[in-house]
Amino acid sequence: MKVLTAVSDVRAFRASREGSLGLVPTMGALHAGHLSLVARARRENVNVAASIFVNPAQFGPAEDFAAYPRALDADLGLLASLGVDAVWAPSPGDVYPPGFQTWITVDDVSAPLEGARRPGHFRGVATVVAKLLNVFQPARAYFGQKDAQQVAVIRRMVQDLSIPVDIVVCPTAREKDGLALSSRNAYLGPDERRAAPVLHRALEAARAAFDSGERDAGRLRAILTETLAGEPLVREDYVSVADASTLAELERVEGAALASLAARLGKTRLIDNVVLGGT
Ligand code: PAJ
Repeated sequence: MKVLTAVSDVRAFRASREGSLGLVPTMGALHAGHLSLVARARRENVNVAASIFVNPAQFGPAEDFAAYPRALDADLGLLASLGVDAVWAPSPGDVYPPGFQTWITVDDVSAPLEGARRPGHFRGVATVVAKLLNVFQPARAYFGQKDAQQVAVIRRMVQDLSIPVDIVVCPTAREKDGLALSSRNAYLGPDERRAAPVLHRALEAARAAFDSGERDAGRLRAILTETLAGEPLVREDYVSVADASTLAELERVEGAALASLAARLGKTRLIDNVVLGGT
C-alpha cells in the first residue's frame, strides 16, 4: 500500500493504474463505519484509495479541530489489511497551498440543520471533496448515510459542476445498542455513553409511527423531541423531518424524507438520521 503526501505523487499513482478507482475520503481515527465503506469500495473497483485528512476548513473556531482523534499508524494498518492500494495523508499545505483562495459554496442544501449550527462547515467539506475528486479522478466515491446532509451537499455539487464520479452512499454502521459509530463517541463519559442510544431510539420511534401511517411531519418531529427529552443527560440541538434531497422541512411526508437530529451529551455533540419512505 502506497502512502502519499504530495499531490504530484497521487497523480503519478493514478496514472500508473489501469481500471476503475474507488475513493473513500476520511478524517482518520477509523472505525467499523469507515471500514464498511472501504470494504464496499474494494468489492466494486479494480483499485481502491483512501484519504486521511483532518480538514481544518470544515471546523469552526470553537470546534474540536485540535482535539479531533488522530491515529495514523493504526489507520494505515487497517487500510492495508483491507487491501487498499494507496492512501493520501497530506498535510494542510498539500491541500491548501500558500495563497489558497478558491472555495465551493453549495447554497441552499448547506443552509439548514448542520449548516445553520456550523457556519462554513459545508464550504470546507465541499471544497476538500472537490479537491479530492480532482486529484484522484475516481470512478466512484464512497460516503456514509450517517452524514446525510454531507451526502446531499456532495451530490448537489457533483451534479452542478458535472464532476464525472458516482457517489455511493453506504448504510450507517451502529453499535449493538443502536448508537451510530462516530469518532466523536470516544469523547463520551460512561454515563453519557449509556444515554447516547436515545438518539437512535428517537429515530426508530419516528420510523415506527411513520410505518403505522403517520404522515404529519410536525407530529413526527414531536416524537423525536419527546423521546430525546426522556433522557436527562441529553439536550436536543435540533430535530428535523425534511425532504431527503433539498432538506427543506416538510409539513407532510409524501416522497422520501430524512428524519434527523443533533443532540449534546455534556461537551459532545452527536448526529444521526433515518430515511422514511422512498427507499
Ligand atoms: P469522517 O467523519 O472521517 O467520515 C468519513 C466517511 O465515513 C464519511 O462519508 C462518513 O459519513 C462515513 N461514516 C462515518 N461514520 C459512519 C458510520 N457509523 N457508518 C457508515 N459510515 C460512516 O465525513 C468526513 O470524514 C469528512 O467530512 C470528509 C468527507 C472526509 C471531508 O473532509
